[in-house]
Amino acid sequence: MDIKGTYHVPVLLKQSVDGLVTDPDGVYADATFGGGGHSREILSRLSPKGLLYGFDQDADARNNIPGDSRFTFVYGNFRYMRNFMRWYGHERLTGILADLGVSWHHFDDSSRGFSFRFDGPADMRMNQKEGLRAADVLNDYTEENLARLFRLYGELYNGRQLARAVVRYRTNRRIETVTGLVEAVRPEIGREREKKDLAKVFQAIRMEVNHEVDALREMLCSSVGLLEKGGRLVVITYHSIEDRMVKNLMKSGNIEGEVKTDFYGNREVPFRCIGKPVTPDAGEQADNPRSRSAKLRIAERV
Ligand SMILES: C[S@@+](CC[C@H](N)C(=O)[O-])C[C@H]1O[C@@H](n2cnc3c(N)ncnc32)[C@H](O)[C@@H]1O
Repeated sequence: MDIKGTYHVPVLLKQSVDGLVTDPDGVYADATFGGGGHSREILSRLSPKGLLYGFDQDADARNNIPGDSRFTFVYGNFRYMRNFMRWYGHERLTGILADLGVSWHHFDDSSRGFSFRFDGPADMRMNQKEGLRAADVLNDYTEENLARLFRLYGELYNGRQLARAVVRYRTNRRIETVTGLVEAVRPEIGREREKKDLAKVFQAIRMEVNHEVDALREMLCSSVGLLEKGGRLVVITYHSIEDRMVKNLMKSGNIEGEVKTDFYGNREVPFRCIGKPVTPDAGEQADNPRSRSAKLRIAERV
């Protein structure tokens, strides 16, 4: 697939929107608007009465807003979805869709620093208006903190060695660019797994810079109170840390995955899982290799 100039190609489009839209007159949230592919598909299923709120914390996503009076773009973090929705006058939603992580646009814009394919500033912030850049994390975090995020978010068994390599490198010069980051960790990256391990290093730093685990936890927990009975939560994840959080929430109602019971020992679970997790078929994976790690889960508020 030629990706030049494409903001994003939506993943598991039909399956996710089929699972989301139960009422064409309903009020929906697309937590991760991006290029707007999922949002446009949702709008095509809604009646003139239906409403859709599309969230994105990246200002660039505003260029993709559809000209449709049923759509409202919310420039903000989905962790505050409940407050935003209240502000718009909706205490309950019919469905929430989240297609997590970053868009193609992020990976393909060298000025954002998300990809090791080309040099650029070590930034990696989705919201460029606030927060630490990747360079701040790399230059200012302690070795222990760097090791923690490489192990936890990158699932890299040699997190300690990678952290030590960063600290060693930065004693002589600051790490301000993608090339600097790659040079710093290269001594600890095996040649045969170079691309996979670099991708994990970048994922770990990106998740830290954007507080991805905290934002997802807050959005998932707020979905319990936001969704009306019968409302759907539809989430597409791209790695096991996110998927574990989503699976736990859908099975138990909390991120820890602990099922609570009432006085009589009855399970108190706010969601019913709909079907098994779905992954892209061979055709979609061939057309869009970036969809390969995607996993879709759907649950209904009971
Ligand atoms: C995988 S893309 C979504 C693509 C979209 N489904 C489409 O069809 O084009 C994820 C998007 O979510 C945004 N995003 C990620 N985390 C966010 C958060 N916590 N709050 C708001 N937007 C977020 C990113 O900026 C990115 O544009």
